[in-house]
Amino acid sequence: MKEERGHFGSKLGVVLASAGSAVGLGNIWRFPTETGSNGGAAFILIYLLFVLLLALPVMISEFVIGRHSRSNTVEAYRKMAPRTPWFVVGIFGVLSGFLVLSFYSVVAGWTVDYTMLSITGSLSGNQDFGEVFGGFVSHPYRPVIFLLLFLLITHVIVAKGIESGIEKFSKLMMPLLLVIIILLVVLSVSMPGAGEGLSFLLHPDFSRVTPRVVFSAMGQAFFSLSVGIGCLVTYSSYFSKETRLLPSALNVCIIDTMVAILAGFIIFPTVFSVGVQPDAGPGLVFVTLPNVFNHAFGDAAWVGDIFSILFYLLLLLAALTSSISMHEISTAYIREHYHVSRSRAAWIVTGVCMFLGTLCSLSFGPWKDVTFFGMGFFDLFDFLTAKFFMPLGGIGLCLFVGWYMDKKTVRDELTNSGAAPTSLYGAFMFLVRFVAPVCIALVFLNELFGNLIFE
Ligand code: PHE
Repeated sequence: MKEERGHFGSKLGVVLASAGSAVGLGNIWRFPTETGSNGGAAFILIYLLFVLLLALPVMISEFVIGRHSRSNTVEAYRKMAPRTPWFVVGIFGVLSGFLVLSFYSVVAGWTVDYTMLSITGSLSGNQDFGEVFGGFVSHPYRPVIFLLLFLLITHVIVAKGIESGIEKFSKLMMPLLLVIIILLVVLSVSMPGAGEGLSFLLHPDFSRVTPRVVFSAMGQAFFSLSVGIGCLVTYSSYFSKETRLLPSALNVCIIDTMVAILAGFIIFPTVFSVGVQPDAGPGLVFVTLPNVFNHAFGDAAWVGDIFSILFYLLLLLAALTSSISMHEISTAYIREHYHVSRSRAAWIVTGVCMFLGTLCSLSFGPWKDVTFFGMGFFDLFDFLTAKFFMPLGGIGLCLFVGWYMDKKTVRDELTNSGAAPTSLYGAFMFLVRFVAPVCIALVFLNELFGNLIFE
C-alpha cells in the first residue's frame, strides 16, 4: 500500500514549522558566536541586509518550487525541468542535509548534556568551566552518546510524519521557546553592567569590517534561515493551496531575526557584566555563560540555577525543531525516490548521520589531528555547508525561479492563482533575477580574491 505524502494541517502549523526550522542553534549559539568574533554591531547590520536581500528571496524561491512541485527537493527539479541537469541542485541539497545534521547534532548533543547537568545542579558552584567543557567535548565517548541520543529523539519525531510529528512538535515548542527567550532577556538586561554588552550590540564600528566578516555574515544569513539546500522546498511541498507564500516567508524571517537579536540581548549583556571577552568562539555559550550564571546573582544563587536550566532547555528545544527539518530533506527524498516506508527512510538518514556525527564529535577529542585544509570534520562540515553549499545552492534556486521557470507559474504561486494579489511580485522578481545571484557571487569572489570591494 502506498503511504500518503502528508501535509501541514493549518496555516499556523506552516509558519511555526518553518520558523521552527529557521530558529535553532544558528540563532542562539552560532549567531552570538559569529557576532562576537566578527566585531559586533557592524556584523549584525550586514547580516540583516543579507537576510533581506539574499536569504529572503531564496526562501520565497524555495516555497515556490516546493509548493508547485509537491515533491522532495530532487524530484522537484526532475518534474519541473525534465532532462536537464537542474536536479543536481537538489542532490547537493540532500547531501548538505546529511552534513548539516551531522555537525549540528554534535552541538545539540552538548546541549542535552548541559541541560541535564544544570537540572542536577552540577553546573553550580565554583568551577573552571573552560576545563569542564574542554574535558567533556574531548572525552572519547561521552559526547558521542549525547549526540546519538539527540539523533534518536529527532528520528522519533520525523518518523511520526508531517502532521502528527513535525507540525505538532513545532506548534507545541515554538510558543514555549518564545516565552523562555523573553524571560531570559528581561533577566539579562537587568543585570548590573549590562550596558557595555548592549553597546557592543548597538554601536557599529565599520573599521572592523573585512571581506571575511562580510563572507561570514552571508553564511550566517543562509544558515539561520535554513535556505539554499532545499529544506524549505521540502517543507513547502506539504503546504496547502491556500497557504500564502509571501506573508509566510516574511513571518518566518521576522521571527528568526527577532530571536537572533534577542539571543544577542541575552548573551552579550551577561557576558560583559562579568567582564569576559565576547569572542570566545564555539565555547561562548558553554563556558562563558555557566560562569555568568554562577557569579552574577551573588547570594541568590538559585536565580542563576534557574537561568541556566531555562537557557539550555531553550537551546535544546530550538535545536530539535531545526534538526527535524534537516532530517526531513533526506528522509523525503529517500522515501520517494526508493519507494520505501517513511520509517525505513528515516532510519537510513539517522544511521548515516550517526556515523558522520561521530566523526565530527571525535574531531574535538581523539581525532583532533585529522584535518583537511586545516579543518577537522566538524569545522569542515560547518564551512562546507554554511559558507559554500548554502549560498551556492541559493544562486541555483534564484536562477531557477528567476530565469528558468515560466513567469506565469511563479506569479500564480505567489498570488495563489490570483486569489491573493500582491504588490511585491515585481520587487521579488528583481531581487531573485539580479540582486541575489550577483551579490552572492560578488561576496564569494571578494572572499576568494580578497579586498576587491569591501576594504
Ligand atoms: N536554521 C537552523 C538554525 O538556525 C539551521 C538549519 C540549517 C536548519 C539548514 C535547516 C537547514 O539553527
